[in-house]
Amino acid sequence: MGDKGERALWGSRLGFLLAAIGSAVGLGNIWRFSYTVYDNGGGAFLIPYFTALLVAGIPLMILEYALGHSQKGSTPLAFFKISKKWEVVGWWLPMVATVAVLFFYAVVIAWCLDYFVFSFSLGWGDDTAKFFVNHYLKASGDSSVMGGFNVRVAASTAIVWFVCWLICYREVNHGIEKACLVFMPLLLILTSVLVVAALRLDGSMDGIKMYLKPDFHKINLFSNPDAWKVWTAAFGQIFFSLSLGFGIMITYASYLPKKTDIVGNAVWTCIANSAYSIFTGLAVFGVLGFMAHAKGVGVADVASGGGKLAFIVYPTAISKLPFDAPWRNLFGVAFFLALVVAGISSAISLVEALVCALTDKFGISRGGVVTFLCVAGFLGSMTYVTGAGSSIMDIVNPYADQALVLGGLLECILVAWIMKAAVARKHVNDSGGVHLPKIWEFVVKYITPTVLIIILSLSATNLVKQFYSGKANVAAHVMFGIRGIAITALFAWGLTMFKWHRKSHKPEDEHLLT
Ligand code: ALA
Repeated sequence: MGDKGERALWGSRLGFLLAAIGSAVGLGNIWRFSYTVYDNGGGAFLIPYFTALLVAGIPLMILEYALGHSQKGSTPLAFFKISKKWEVVGWWLPMVATVAVLFFYAVVIAWCLDYFVFSFSLGWGDDTAKFFVNHYLKASGDSSVMGGFNVRVAASTAIVWFVCWLICYREVNHGIEKACLVFMPLLLILTSVLVVAALRLDGSMDGIKMYLKPDFHKINLFSNPDAWKVWTAAFGQIFFSLSLGFGIMITYASYLPKKTDIVGNAVWTCIANSAYSIFTGLAVFGVLGFMAHAKGVGVADVASGGGKLAFIVYPTAISKLPFDAPWRNLFGVAFFLALVVAGISSAISLVEALVCALTDKFGISRGGVVTFLCVAGFLGSMTYVTGAGSSIMDIVNPYADQALVLGGLLECILVAWIMKAAVARKHVNDSGGVHLPKIWEFVVKYITPTVLIIILSLSATNLVKQFYSGKANVAAHVMFGIRGIAITALFAWGLTMFKWHRKSHKPEDEHLLT
């Protein structure tokens, strides 16, 4: 909200799309997607993945855009305008996203920033695992053993938060939009260079084959008792990667002009995100194929997921690349720079979701809110800057995924059942652009919620089973997972006690202020 009270608008449709794609395309696309595909049936995983995209991804993206655009407000304001009782959920979504995702996300971007610097001299040495775990992270390997405070990671995390502050300080059309107009083309260039270089390596095709080779047994719900895990992973990937359930897309859509193509925007955001994920996988698995070839082992012996892939496997591969001196290092520079750029363009969207909520609620200046949130966010990130940081991350991650799916379910109930899907669809079609067919109403009313309830129940059952079998440390889960969810809910409820500032409302909404 501008200081004069008028709401900022995106400068152009392209600016909005790049900001939304920037939010979607993040660390999750680069290190999480390709390994998730490989680990869950290769090419066959694309069946649950695209099912999740059609059943939940695209319908919810349209729903979030329709909600933000029709209510012209941040998540809590949009929820409040539909039903006062739902304001608390509107706060909970961006708050839990900040606490459960952004706090650690900023630290992982900081790791990428440090590895970007190490790339110039291949400073990780020969034993990349030892370097990452012992020298760089100084990890204790246990969430209850705090270990020392890591000054280097803390300093890089401060830089990440400072960049977020710098971009978010100004209104979206001057800050986030301008940044994404530079970041997104840069990301595409960096990724294309990585893919072309990776595909030229000996053995790269073996890696690509492993990445996409379909294993239909893994996804077959009738013959494989563990197949549901693959389907749950597909939905988790779609939610995290498309930034759904965070309140981000609701907020971004609130800055769109009256006439806009909601369906077209949603479909483009989803297509770009999936296409980017699949494309980056070529660079990731091309390099893994090369490494396996160089070591004379199978791709399965070198492949690894998550942080291990980016900070242990990839650095080893970079050091072995058959390129002459600066090119080998520059490959690493490009890879880690791509991670930093993708990460920052997502982190700023998470900051914006809460900034917009607080400015809507209290009518205070944007600059002050951004400064407060970035300082608080930096302090929150410090949880992950101790020796226990990476172990705590492993516990928090699944809770973040489930919170997003729960957020998506609650959004469905609010829009499809309370606001009414037909009203939302009418708004979308009255706004212009591609026509939204009636089937969407049926999907968001019945299909999406049913599937999300099944996913949540399966995940909850699995967690309880892990507790009973002793595979999960119950105390650590209560401490970092369940407690985090409860505290954010308490804060969300506390915020509903304050009155909405007049600037957030149009004259026709005056009744809501009482
Ligand atoms: N959508 C962001 C990502 O995939 C959060 O990393």
